[in-house]
Amino acid sequence: MWDLSIVGQLVDSGAFVSENLELSGLTTLRVGGRARVVAECATTEILVDVVRLLDSSNIPTLILAGGSNLVIGDDGFDGVVVRVSNTAVRIDEDAVRADAGVEWDRVVAQVVDAELGGLECLSGIPGSTGATPVQNVGAYGVEVGSMLRRVHLLDRTTGETRWVEPEALGLGYRTSILKHSDAALVLEVELAVHPDGLSEPLRYRELAAALDAPEGCRLPSAQVRDAVLDLRRGKGMVLDPADHDTWSAGSFFTNPVVTDAELTRVLGAIEARLGDVAVPQYPADGGTKLSAGWLIERAGFTKGYPGEGAVARLSTKHALALTNRGTATSADLLALARDVRKGVLAAFGVRLDPEPVTVGCDL
Ligand code: EPU
Repeated sequence: MWDLSIVGQLVDSGAFVSENLELSGLTTLRVGGRARVVAECATTEILVDVVRLLDSSNIPTLILAGGSNLVIGDDGFDGVVVRVSNTAVRIDEDAVRADAGVEWDRVVAQVVDAELGGLECLSGIPGSTGATPVQNVGAYGVEVGSMLRRVHLLDRTTGETRWVEPEALGLGYRTSILKHSDAALVLEVELAVHPDGLSEPLRYRELAAALDAPEGCRLPSAQVRDAVLDLRRGKGMVLDPADHDTWSAGSFFTNPVVTDAELTRVLGAIEARLGDVAVPQYPADGGTKLSAGWLIERAGFTKGYPGEGAVARLSTKHALALTNRGTATSADLLALARDVRKGVLAAFGVRLDPEPVTVGCDL
């Protein structure tokens, strides 16, 4: 066991410290056991000091911000959880700079309110600003990576801080070199915004249709934000404590990208099972992106699976979201995830990869 005398030093660094705290309350899935110590860091300076202290003392550390892309095991975390709670936002005419701890949707809302464009398609996504480059958050045809100017990082191997350009981050579909790595911590993010107040060109058919506008056109960012929020709400993808369909980590699996050879095989398996159906597919780096939600439903896991009364179910609004109906444990959710994954593999030969990060548990 590591030495609890660190608690005094964390307090001296300016952190707000709690002990033996239930982690389920800090994640959107609301599962996970207790943390021995939680150190909440309200400014970038405190955050840097605290993480440097923990790293130099070799104490197991879990960085936690919005908690929206995290599955924590029922045994919790026997170390120090660092809560990223820095909250500064600065909006300039063509850029926004925000602390990692700021709730992402607050940044989007402020940019839209300032009559600037570019981030509106990323409205209503749960989680913190610092997490957005880590997994290159995306929705409705826009990825954070395309708007990113630079990211302020704490290099945890050297303890130094530096600004890094997006080209150095290895950004891809829901991934970057920052994901599944403790080498660096995001402190701040700077994004470009459009001074003309217009949205990014509409690239997602469903969104363009909802706005009754042609694909490729640009509209006032506020109008697009409203449409995105409506679409997301309809799919249970906007947090609402009263709606268990939103007690999720968003999409639980990424959309699988298959090579040309795999595609032929998968389409054959789909046809053998379902006959001649239209299969949603989109060109992607390395092959073709299929829709995980579609595959899950067609493998027999329809919305709401396995049914009323289950503590962990697929959302009744979107088959790709695994949800906690109020009393699910991490084990319950993971059992459902394994069930779905096995079923899709058996039906179509496609292996789904989880999107959230797991801590103290595995799929
Ligand atoms: N579909 C179904 N059943 C469902 C849901 C979807 O058959 O229950 C099929 C439909 O054919 C639909 C297609 O899947 O046309 C795509 O569905 P949707 O537009 O909801 O998008 P998605 O691919 O399931 C992705 C992101 C979301 C993002 C939306 C909108 C991933 C893993 N997910 O979902 O991101 O909000 O597009 O851009 O890429 C997240 O990453 O957590 C997330 C919510």
